[in-house]
Amino acid sequence: MNLQLETERLFLRPFIKEDAPFLFELNNDEEVMRYTGDVPFKDVEAAQEFAIDYSANKNSQYRLYQMGRIAVIRKSDDAFLGWSGLKYHKSADFVDIGYRFMKKYWGHGYATESGLEVVRHAFEDHQLELLVAQVHELNYPSQKVAQRLGMHINHRFYWEEREPGRHYQIDKDHYFSIVKK
Ligand SMILES: CC(C)(COP(=O)(O)OP(=O)(O)OC[C@H]1O[C@@H](n2cnc3c(N)ncnc32)[C@H](O)[C@@H]1OP(=O)(O)O)[C@@H](O)C(=O)NCCC(=O)NCCS
Repeated sequence: MNLQLETERLFLRPFIKEDAPFLFELNNDEEVMRYTGDVPFKDVEAAQEFAIDYSANKNSQYRLYQMGRIAVIRKSDDAFLGWSGLKYHKSADFVDIGYRFMKKYWGHGYATESGLEVVRHAFEDHQLELLVAQVHELNYPSQKVAQRLGMHINHRFYWEEREPGRHYQIDKDHYFSIVKK
């Protein structure tokens, strides 16, 4: 499965170790991380270990499912903007789309542009039946992205019985009805 994707302004590709300083910077921003439930890397070396492991580990999403979060690179200047991509959640048996961008690149439509390509990749390359996005109740920018990707709320839930979340989804039929228009 090809994990090199492309849109008008962007390339999407698997993480490489050279992404480490940018992954570190991304996760080191409290505002970026506020609703993600994720934690910063200890240092750039830890981010580098993550990037190498994410690609090379035999149990990685890339290796097991030929999918995963992938770097989003701006074509015009090769800037690392953030990441998007799919993830298979074995325990819940669904694939979700995730996205996380450096704050300086918010408000340019990059999350939506890359997200639309990831949705295409989900339904056309992976032939998924359903794609999910789980978003914190207060994460309005992320909710707007999910809606722009053609997703609708299916239900609300609590993460670890604490944080309120919205479970968005789009199914195959809805995706193909949108792209045929
Ligand atoms: C969620 C997140 C990716 C959204 O980023 P974003 O920049 O708001 O989203 P987009 O890239 O789709 O940009 C949309 C905005 O760009 C504007 N825009 C500017 N130029 C544009 C263009 N050429 N094309 C499209 N939109 C453009 C749109 O009008 C829109 O503005 P609005 O939200 O005020 O209506 C970002 O807030 C983020 O990384 N958050 C932290 C991580 C996170 O919470 N991830 C989600 C966890 S569920």
